[in-house]
Amino acid sequence: MILVTGGAGFIGSNFVLEWLATGDESVLNLDKLTYAGNLNNLASLRGDGRHMFVQGDICDRQLIDRLLNEHRPRAIVHFAAESHVDRSIHGPAAFVQTNINGTFNLLDAGRAYWSTLVGQARDAFRFLHVSTDEVYGSLGPSDPPFSETNPYQPNSPYSASKAASDHLVRAYYHTYGFPVLTTNCSNNYGPYHFPEKLIPLVIANARAGKPLPIYGDGQQIRDWLYVKDHCAAIRRVLSDGRFGETYNVGGWNEKANLDVVHALCDILDEMDPRPAGGSYRQQITYVADRPGHDRRYAIDARKIERELNWKPLETFETGLRKTVQWYLDNDAWVRSVQSGDYMKWMERNYSQRDNVEEQA
Ligand code: NAD
Ligand code: DAU
Repeated sequence: MILVTGGAGFIGSNFVLEWLATGDESVLNLDKLTYAGNLNNLASLRGDGRHMFVQGDICDRQLIDRLLNEHRPRAIVHFAAESHVDRSIHGPAAFVQTNINGTFNLLDAGRAYWSTLVGQARDAFRFLHVSTDEVYGSLGPSDPPFSETNPYQPNSPYSASKAASDHLVRAYYHTYGFPVLTTNCSNNYGPYHFPEKLIPLVIANARAGKPLPIYGDGQQIRDWLYVKDHCAAIRRVLSDGRFGETYNVGGWNEKANLDVVHALCDILDEMDPRPAGGSYRQQITYVADRPGHDRRYAIDARKIERELNWKPLETFETGLRKTVQWYLDNDAWVRSVQSGDYMKWMERNYSQRDNVEEQA
């Protein structure tokens, strides 16, 4: 079996669902169920003996030791993290705790467990750390995309905490020979994406007749990847990646935020027209920018393509349509995550952002 951390979150739950849809190896899923974790994402696995869920914290060393020794996984796939940049600006402490201390704890417990393994079990064991392109900082308009050798220049408390965790993972390989693999991926989108992030937020707000908030001038660029393509890349790195290596994962799909929001409005206009008529684009509102907002991310994904023969299958157009369709079909899921805590977060993040003049 494999141990997955954070398997009730956006990417982790997609990974667990895809893993069990494409094979029979069991998953031990450890998740704290923070505001971002949701067992409803895994509802289709109820009664499936291949999936064992444990609610717990990656910072709890005793728990991790016990789980490793009792279940003896052949790999750890580590998704658990605080993942939202805006939340890291309002409250960085949780990011340091989970992303740095939690990753350290998991690495150290993993190493202790691995040191007890012998023969084939020891050779087969691996620890895959799921990280982000944000560790590389921000690109200028004509800079080449991030490659695995770019220097680390994190700019937000979130990306700094992920960078710190990447460094610890690297150090455990170089110092102890612990068999690690790291993936640094660009922006994901798709089913089960929590509606505090741009794409699901815009879909939810559009349909609720609320403003579609664009930070600053909306010309910040992200490289979008459909979540199932990311999951396939992780499976490939887990099976064939070289220990101690990092692999950049991206969609070759750079888009300005405003273009993403326009594309969403156009798809919604077609699939779920506004009751009042007119385009959802009318709901776009420019608001104060994110402090320290990175201008551009882009991933050079040639290494994973060359070495592991992975390429994204979904285009942005097909992936975005599938995503919008998923949200239209899963209104109840959206409503269930828009709890009191969610409303408090929306108030906290958006009430202090005065609307600004529409950009030219
Ligand atoms: P998410 O916020 O949707 O989910 C995170 C999950 O981790 C939640 O289920 C949460 O309950 C769990 N968790 C948080 N703290 C925990 C703790 N202390 N112990 C156990 N579980 C805990 O995040 P996501 O978007 O699915 O991202 C997953 C991973 O992928 C993260 O490491 C993130 O940095 C990385 N990543 C995300 C993206 C993206 O676009 N979302 C892109 C690249 C990399
Ligand atoms: O690049 C990978 C990263 O992508 C992951 O490591 C993070 O976990 C993930 O959250 C994501 O980070 P971003 O900050 O890029 O994602 P977010 O969806 O929050 O924002 C995308 C862009 O849209 C960003 O430039 C900020 C902008 N934005 C976001 C929100 C929530 C807006 O303009 N308005 C908004 O209301």
